[in-house]
Formats: sequence, C-alpha cells, structure tokens
Amino acid sequence: MAAVVTASQKVLKPHLLIKGGHALSGELKVSGAKNSALVLMTAALLTEGVVELANVPELTDIQGMAEILGSLGVSVKRRHQAIRLQADNLNHAEPPYELVNGLRASFFCIGPLLGRLGHAKVPLPGGCRIGARPVVEHIKGLKALGAVVNVEHGVVTASVPGSSRRLKGAPIMLDCPSVGATETVLMAAVLAEGVSTIENAAQEPEVQDLAKMLNAMGARISGAGGPVITIEGVERLNGCSYAVMPDRIEAGTFLLAAAITRSSLRVAPIIPEHLNAVLQKLRDCGCKLEIENQGITIIPGELHGVDITTQPFPGFPTDLQAPFMALLATAKGTSVITEKIYENRMQHVAELQRMGASIRLQGNTAVVEGVPQLSAAPVTGSDLRAAAAMVLASLAARGTSQVAGLNHLDRGYAEIEGKLNSAGTQIHRCNPELA
Ligand code: EPU
Repeated sequence: MAAVVTASQKVLKPHLLIKGGHALSGELKVSGAKNSALVLMTAALLTEGVVELANVPELTDIQGMAEILGSLGVSVKRRHQAIRLQADNLNHAEPPYELVNGLRASFFCIGPLLGRLGHAKVPLPGGCRIGARPVVEHIKGLKALGAVVNVEHGVVTASVPGSSRRLKGAPIMLDCPSVGATETVLMAAVLAEGVSTIENAAQEPEVQDLAKMLNAMGARISGAGGPVITIEGVERLNGCSYAVMPDRIEAGTFLLAAAITRSSLRVAPIIPEHLNAVLQKLRDCGCKLEIENQGITIIPGELHGVDITTQPFPGFPTDLQAPFMALLATAKGTSVITEKIYENRMQHVAELQRMGASIRLQGNTAVVEGVPQLSAAPVTGSDLRAAAAMVLASLAARGTSQVAGLNHLDRGYAEIEGKLNSAGTQIHRCNPELA
C-alpha cells in the first residue's frame, strides 16, 4: 500500500495505514463500555467479596486501572474479557502518581477508598488535551458527606474524622452534572450512615450501570439515570457478577464508519436509548436506521449537513463530536457544530482540513461545508475521539492515509483494525519502532 506522503512528512510513530474508498458490509460487534468498566472496577474496592466482571473491553486503559488496583493490594485476575477482582487485603489507600497520571479515571478510586477505609490519598490527575477537567465537584461532594479534604502538592488527602470512620449521608447539589463527580459521590455514599441525595446528578448510562452493579452488591440506590439519585447507606457490600453494558461511543463510531463510506452495516449489541440523540442526527442527515434485537442496521442515503451542539446526556455526547464532524465534512451543505462540554476539543479540525475538509473554526464552533471527496494525508489524532475521527475520515478519503496517535486510539477502541477489516476495510498497523 503506497501512502501519500513526502519525505518530510514521514511518520515514525506507530500508525495505521488506511486505504480509503472501501465499502463496509456485514456486522460489527460492539465491546463493553470503557467508561463503565473503568468505574465498575474501582467499585470492587468497596467489598471484601469477589467481583466478577464480564464483557470488559481489552484496552490499554483497562490494563492501567488493573495496575492501579493491584498497587492498592487488590487481587486482579484477567482472562480476555473477564476480570476477577478481590479487595479482601486492601493494604494501601494511596495509588502512585506515575500510574494515576496516565489515567484520569483512576481518581475515581477516592470515593470507594474513603467509603471502605475512611481515608484515601490520591494524586490529582491534572488536565488533559481536551480541557482542564477539574475535580472540584468530586471534592465538594466528599466534604458534604463529612470527609476532611485537603489538596496540597498536587495530592488530594481525604479522611473521615471520628472513631467510626464512616461517612454521613447528606444532600448534595452538584453545580454541573459531572459524570465523574456523580460516580465518586455515589461510591462514597453507599457505605455512609444514613441517606444521601445527589441533585443535578449526571444522567449518563455509565452512571446507571454503576448504580445497577452497586445494587447487585447490596447497595440501596434509586433514581440513577434521572437528575436526583437517592442512596440509603448500608453497612457492608457483597461481591457480585456483572456484565458491563455495551459501549455506546464505540457503537456510534461504527455507525459513522458505515455512514462516511456510504455502506449498509449492522452494529450490535446496542442499547438504542443510549444513543437517541446520535440516532436522531444520523436520521436528520439522511440515514435510514432499522432497529431490532439490540442491533441497528444503518442504510445511508444522500447525506446533507445538520447542526450539532454537545450536551450532557441525554443530549448529543461530546465523545462523538469529532467522529460526527468527519462525516459532516463529506455531507452536502453546511453544518454548524458547537462543543459545549470541553474547552479544547476542536484539535481535529486542523487535521481534517489537511485532508481537504472545508471547516471554519470560531472559538468552539465549527462551520463545516461538505466537500465531495476528502484526500488521504498523514494525520494525528490528538486525543482518543480525535483519533477515531481521523480513522473515519481516512476510510472515506481518496488514497492511503497514515493515522498516528494510536496511544490515544488504543485507550478506547478494542482491536479497531481487526474489527473494521472484518467488515471490508483495508487497515494495516505499522510500528516503525519494532521494525
Ligand atoms: N467539570 C467541572 N467541575 C468538576 C467536574 C467536571 O467543571 O468538578 C466539567 C469538566 O471540566 C467538563 C464537564 O464538567 O467540562 C464534564 O466533565 P465530567 O466530569 O462529566 O467528565 P468526566 O467524568 O471527567 C467522563 C468520561 C469522558 C466523557 C465525559 C462526558 C470517563 C472515564 N470519562 O469524563 O470520556 O467525555 O464523562 O461524558 O468516564 C472519552 O471517553 O473520550 C472521554 C473523555
């Protein structure tokens, strides 16, 4: 496969060579949800019992979380998509900075550690490429439950005063419906004394998945999935077996892969209600969708522009903003895409422009004029979803693209080239460092 690159553009990092213009067909299988699995793994800290998770995606982020839990004394046994966790010998409440730094979701350990042990010391994860990503709301929630929290030298130290070492249930009102803050407070409050409520809670399906698993462990949580969650604290939780829900963002990315190559494809398993806002935009831009048996068949027609604004669930997810922009770069007419969740999640615009997309960026709003054909180029995904957008654009482009940024892509898409190639694409992984 000859890539369209000049000597000065040579990519020496691991990359995908993607030959554009191949249609997809058949069915693509969706893995378990990364953002759900990560938090469900930390929930195992809440019990001495065995937690068996099924449908865990095989991703570098999951490996990172396994290492963090291992550093706390949790026994972690992984076999393909199953993970067995047991925190009966929790000997540590301080995950090391080197591990936390590479994985923001590791901060979620603070809630269950505090609930179970009465103390925790977790380095601040810091910002990332898409924005500052503060944890103010997480800390505010823990304080409301009675924890004493200090942030010093980049480390958050939290402890429960008094001899009982048990947090106290309380009403909590979040300033913004943060997914991470809702999950942190939920995991801290399940073992607290008395009743807690979280108002303005995040309604994302990952929060619902967490509440379902905690209830299977013996927690008493109601209202998850709505704006007010009530948690009646219990003294202890048991182990459980639980299957992670399907990844709605991977599912959306696959539907977009079909749309951008104008191919009919079935994607499964999908819980359609998790993707309503995205499905509506796909219909609005000219795709027909057949929904049956936890799967969706997409049949793209002639595609035209639509406007998108990212919002907390049930609104349009920020994690599909970049992939959808790749599609709209090839749809007839004008689309206006506004990013409202993260302050710096438009870095894919410049890369799409390098592939011939016509996009004007004004702050966090992109005005996209669809072009009839993208052209292959060496491009880099600057974060996980930007990297997915580069893959999609390359599938539709004329020529062979080099997509770098696989350290991001592999965090969230299990076996991406294997899956897409099974449906008809031509993607080849190159690792020059190993050559
Ligand atoms: N925010 C605050 N203060 C806080 C917490 C959050 O202002 O104390 C703001 C953030 O700065 C951001 C917005 O609220 O602008 C949303 O942040 P949220 O806390 O809801 O996000 P998160 O829990 O850090 C999870 C996913 C993200 C996904 C968001 C939104 C995980 C591990 N990550 O992040 O996933 O974008 O929810 O749905 O669950 C991805 O998978 O690519 C990804 C970035």
